[in-house]
Amino acid sequence: MKAIVYDRYGPADVLRYADVPTPTPGDGEVLVRVRAASINHGDRAVMHGSPLIARLAFGLRRPRETVLGRDVAGTVEAVGAKVTRLRVGDEVFGEMNQRGFAEYVTAPEAHLASKPAGVTFEQAATLPVAATSALQALRLGGAGPGRTVLVNGASGGVGTFAVQIAAALGAEVTGVCATRNVDLVGSIGAHHVIDYTREDVTRGTRRFDVIVDLAGNHPLSAFRRLLTPKGIYVSSSGAGGPVFGPLPRLLAAAVLSPFSSRKLRGLYARRDLADFAHLAELVATGKVTPVIERTCPLSETAEAVRRLETDHARGKIVLTV
Ligand SMILES: NC(=O)c1ccc[n+]([C@@H]2O[C@H](COP(=O)([O-])OP(=O)(O)OC[C@H]3O[C@@H](n4cnc5c(N)ncnc54)[C@H](OP(=O)(O)O)[C@@H]3O)[C@@H](O)[C@H]2O)c1
Repeated sequence: MKAIVYDRYGPADVLRYADVPTPTPGDGEVLVRVRAASINHGDRAVMHGSPLIARLAFGLRRPRETVLGRDVAGTVEAVGAKVTRLRVGDEVFGEMNQRGFAEYVTAPEAHLASKPAGVTFEQAATLPVAATSALQALRLGGAGPGRTVLVNGASGGVGTFAVQIAAALGAEVTGVCATRNVDLVGSIGAHHVIDYTREDVTRGTRRFDVIVDLAGNHPLSAFRRLLTPKGIYVSSSGAGGPVFGPLPRLLAAAVLSPFSSRKLRGLYARRDLADFAHLAELVATGKVTPVIERTCPLSETAEAVRRLETDHARGKIVLTV
C-alpha cells in the first residue's frame, strides 16, 4: 500500500510517498481503509523531532515510527479477534498513534468512533485532534451561555472549531485573526472580530470570562489582565523554544495561577470517544461546519505540511486517500 514515510527528522522534504506493507489487525484492533486524513501541528512536531524533548517519546536519533499521521476517517475493512463493537463496512473516524497517512491503518477499536451518515469522510477527518482540542479547551475554561469567550488564533484549524462550538454553547464570542480572515471568522459565528494587524487585543478595554489562546503571541500577564475577576485563560499553543517547546509557558501558567482568582491553565487535549461522537453530532446537525482550506491527494502531503508550517492555514487541510 502507499503511505507517507519518513526515516529521519527534518522539514517536509523528508516525507516520501512510498510503498509499505499493508498492516494486519491484532487482537482488539481493526483494519481501516483510510478515505481521508487531516494534518495537525502534532504531525509537524513528530516530523521535525521538535521540540527536542519530544524525541524521548518519538525516537532519540531517528523516528521510531516511520509513517506519519494521526487524524483519519474511513471504512472498517477487517476486524481482529476480541473486537466487539465495530464490524466490517462500518464508517469510522478517530485519532491514531501515527501511521494514519496511508491507504490502510490498524487501530484499537477504542480509538475509533462511528461516523454519522450526514458527515463526509473529509469532515470527519478534521475532528479528532482539532475539534476535540477546541471542545476540551472551552470546557476547561468554563464556556457556556452568556459567557464572554476570546479565541486568539480564531481562523486556524482549532480556532475555527472553537469559535463555532463556543457560539453553539451560547457564549458571546470574540475572535482574533489577520485581516484576510475577518469575514470568515464573523461568518462562522464570532460576534466580534479583532484584526490583530490593526488592534492589539491585550491593550483593549474588553474583558473576557474565557480566553482560548492558540497563538501564544502575548505574555501570560497580558492575557491575565484581559480576564474578568474569575475568568480562565487556557493556553493551547504548541509554539515555544527548540528544546522544551510550550512546556515553560504551560509551567508558568500552572505556577502563577494559584495566586489570583483569575486562572491560567494549560490544555493537554486527549482522545475521547464521547467527545468525538458529540462533535460528529454537532456537524451532522449543522451546528458546526468544519472549515476546510484545501483538500489534496495523499501523494501531496509534503506540500500540505509546508502550508501548515506557515502558521496561517485557514481552517483545516485535508488529505484524500
Ligand atoms: N495543547 C494541546 O493539546 C493542543 C492541541 C491542538 C493544537 N495545539 C496547538 O494549538 C495551536 C493552534 O493549532 P491550529 O491547528 O489551530 O494551528 P493553525 O491551523 O496553524 O492555525 C494557527 C492560527 O494562528 C493564527 N495566528 C498566527 N499569528 C497570530 C497572531 N499574531 N495573533 C493571533 N493569531 C495568530 C493564524 O491566523 P491568521 O492566519 O489569521 O494570522 C492561524 O489561524 C498550535 O500551536 C498547536 O500546536 C495544542
